[in-house]
Amino acid sequence: MTLKFDGQVAIVTGAGNGLGRAYAHALAERGARVVVNDLGSTARGEGADGSAATAVVEEIVTAGGEAAANTASVSTPEGAASVVATALDAFGRIDVVVNNAGILRDKAFHKMALEDWDSVLDVHLRGSFFVTQAAFPHLRDQGYGRIVMTTSPAGLYGNFGQSNYGAAKMGIVGLARTLAHEGARANIRTNVIAPAALTRLIQGIADPSKLPPLPAELVAPVVVFLSHERCELNGQILSAGGGRVGAVVIEEARGYYAPDLSAEEVEANLGAIFDRTHTMLPAGLADTAFWLKDMVAGR
Ligand SMILES: NC(=O)c1ccc[n+]([C@@H]2O[C@H](COP(=O)([O-])OP(=O)(O)OC[C@H]3O[C@@H](n4cnc5c(N)ncnc54)[C@H](O)[C@@H]3O)[C@@H](O)[C@H]2O)c1
Repeated sequence: MTLKFDGQVAIVTGAGNGLGRAYAHALAERGARVVVNDLGSTARGEGADGSAATAVVEEIVTAGGEAAANTASVSTPEGAASVVATALDAFGRIDVVVNNAGILRDKAFHKMALEDWDSVLDVHLRGSFFVTQAAFPHLRDQGYGRIVMTTSPAGLYGNFGQSNYGAAKMGIVGLARTLAHEGARANIRTNVIAPAALTRLIQGIADPSKLPPLPAELVAPVVVFLSHERCELNGQILSAGGGRVGAVVIEEARGYYAPDLSAEEVEANLGAIFDRTHTMLPAGLADTAFWLKDMVAGR
């Protein structure tokens, strides 16, 4: 059965270029009315150009879809509120929020200027917070919503020169996993995409000749699924690029236990601590004591 979005409204931030543009097109092709938000900045987050958002709206309308432009920055509460206001004014509701807007300011950590730290955190982490918080009451009131947040392999696994970006992208994972809990009763599901696509953002970082083809259009199907009513995943992270999609999990090994644990025992038992024969995937804070309870009980 085709995944359709007839009657639904989706917000996609940073949809004037790259991945967001592909998501906006894919959602519109499947019947969603789409708010195309984009400040139109450079990849470093400098300047503003409203034509980034309006051009994508024109493309969608030309293709027979419905879309409205918003050219505000997501990194202020006022800008984020205006994104939600555009959805309500133009289409009267919100069903899907895709937090995608992003910039890069790479610098080795010892040279990281506060401005580069702040501007990256502002767009990615605060932007995801502001837009989602402005939309959340509407999703709660209607008892339905799908939220997609954007992390990155650079944040999940670490990458030289990206301490600001990595901190923002892991902050987003924490935000999403908390929202998965807070939204559950209102049928609001929040999941995270870790995309890979050859966009302007990673030009100069990745060498395309050493990579398989990575069009943004091959990440869009994953975001479409995560945005759909039939997606019951919640608090999950999917890594996607070039047509591949795989789960990224945070697991906890059974580990080692001693009632009088010493530092020397930690050193001597790294094998057991890192042994992944028995692992579990904590679904929330309540699962923290899962292994310890067993081990204290001698099981
Ligand atoms: N391209 C990749 O391989 C890759 C990998 C991991 C994560 N990501 C993430 O995917 C997202 C999209 O990246 P992309 O590669 O498509 O980049 P892109 O530069 O092509 O598009 C990002 C868009 O966000 C917009 N934007 C920037 N700051 C904004 C703000 N304050 N308010 C509103 N819009 C703003 C830009 O104008 C731009 O159009 C980002 O969050 C990025 O970190 C991308």
